[in-house]
Amino acid sequence: MKAEQSIGIFDSGVGGLTVANAVKSVLPNESIVYFGDTAHLPYGDKSAENIRFYSEQIAEFLLEQNCKIILIACNTASALAYKTVKERVGERAHVFNVIDPVVRLIKDANHLRKIAIIGTKGTIQSNTYPQKIREEIPEANVVSLATPLLVPMIEEGFIYDDISNAIIRSYLSQIDLSEPDALILACTHYPLIKNQIRKFYNFDVEVVDSGNAVANEIKAFLQENHLLNPNTQPRHRFLVSDYTPMFKKIAEMFFEHRIELETRDIWKK
Ligand code: DGL
Repeated sequence: MKAEQSIGIFDSGVGGLTVANAVKSVLPNESIVYFGDTAHLPYGDKSAENIRFYSEQIAEFLLEQNCKIILIACNTASALAYKTVKERVGERAHVFNVIDPVVRLIKDANHLRKIAIIGTKGTIQSNTYPQKIREEIPEANVVSLATPLLVPMIEEGFIYDDISNAIIRSYLSQIDLSEPDALILACTHYPLIKNQIRKFYNFDVEVVDSGNAVANEIKAFLQENHLLNPNTQPRHRFLVSDYTPMFKKIAEMFFEHRIELETRDIWKK
């Protein structure tokens, strides 16, 4: 691994951009290669076998693009494919998932012990978060709920309106914990509707996402291993497996400049 190499980030669509945005803020000199697997979106209702296959292929692609880090900026893929990707990548790059940094963050915040989690069906049914949280914090009270309409809603741009508010309200009122200390957004798409979620709780509940937590862990890793990029002119690339105008719009909103969106069919053999 060399300092000049890029940080490779992937998700099924725009969700991982919330993580890429945190990486850009915490590590402004690093170049990012982002891959949104829009052709297979949503990941949340796909089989574990397919998620592993997609994730391995994308990791190989990011390695070809000269990445020192592979960041799985998707909770579903982190829950179902982290081990597979890590084994496949081996010594060629360092692999990060978005779940472990959040579990460590919750553990370190001693006041957060009643925890509610929302995520895709794949993430919630895997039970990865409750297992990891209970391993680290045996006294924690954890409940979780699958909220599968939120990803298509966000990808379609329903973010600040009556429709999104009604769906958010309907889901959050089903959570079987009246006053959680924290709500974990166990899907990287959900920070895009974080304000509406906080509003549902009258801004009284800590709403936790993975962006800064994982970006800070990557920074610490790069520092310790003398891999911080010394260049000050980073180059970011954005690729998708199928072109969607919404992706371009959201990427440009986060990265504050026009982006060249490349479409790449990495599945061709
Ligand atoms: N943003 C992803 C996640 O964190 C994937 C959502 C989806 O495609 O269903 O789970």
